[in-house]
Amino acid sequence: MKILNFGSLNIDYVYSVEHFVQKGETLSSDMLNVYSGGKGLNQSIALSRAGLPVYHAGMIGEDGTFLENMLKDAGVNTQFLYKSSEVRTGNAIIQNDKNGDNCILLYGGANQAITKDMIDQVLANFEAGDWLVLQNEICEIPYIVEQAHHKGMKIMLNPSPMNDRIYELCLDYIDVFILNEVEAQGLVGTTDDVQKLQSKLKEKFPNAEIVLTLGEKGSMYLGEESVQQEIYSVETVDTTAAGDTFTGYYLAGRLQEMSVKETLNMAAAASAIAVSKRGAAPSIPTKDEVIQFIENH
Ligand code: RIB
Repeated sequence: MKILNFGSLNIDYVYSVEHFVQKGETLSSDMLNVYSGGKGLNQSIALSRAGLPVYHAGMIGEDGTFLENMLKDAGVNTQFLYKSSEVRTGNAIIQNDKNGDNCILLYGGANQAITKDMIDQVLANFEAGDWLVLQNEICEIPYIVEQAHHKGMKIMLNPSPMNDRIYELCLDYIDVFILNEVEAQGLVGTTDDVQKLQSKLKEKFPNAEIVLTLGEKGSMYLGEESVQQEIYSVETVDTTAAGDTFTGYYLAGRLQEMSVKETLNMAAAASAIAVSKRGAAPSIPTKDEVIQFIENH
């Protein structure tokens, strides 16, 4: 069984600010850091650091070579990474405030230049039973889902960032959803009641494995029997990539045949470590760090 993550790669420009810039305001930042990021790249690194071999497919421009190196250093296979001389690498302008919260402005760049031909070339190397991991930061997601499903691949979707493009893909083909509350509400209709949200999700996707992340309230596996996981409380420095870390560790745990409870615990611990460090990809822990963290708590 092979794992393919077809996803975004971004250069993250992270500005440390007192508060998020307001309409009409010009604000000086205290610090600028440049990190490797992108939900796709972050999730590949989390999968790999969690001990699961992964292929990352996607596209960068010539300015994105350090992202490729970051993936390679983390043990991710980059043979399906395209480099264009015509478009620049995607980037994210991230404000990181004094509470560790963030807000993100994306520029798609090469992430939005992926073609159906590239997708066909990549998917030709995978077969029934292999896994495809997707987020919502590259173009042609509906086509990728369609083709992967017809090959018999299993599909995990984290529809982040949530927008109307998600409704263009066939959601019945998804085997595993990792959703936050906003994404879940977007998929099944708005409701503030988490109980109702859970039953609506189960009703709409009866054959899928669903994990709902609830911020401070932890996470919830929605199966025949629900499994709840609390967060590990740590000092928040930067929340960027905490969700990606959770997602990567969740899939890695399940594919390594860990129980749901054990998997959620590992994913919660991994994302707690991520929020206690600056940056996206650099904040994602290795499996050994996660095990050590759990032992210490
Ligand atoms: O999930 C965090 C990521 O979102 C950042 O690395 C940024 O690039 C955006 O894609």
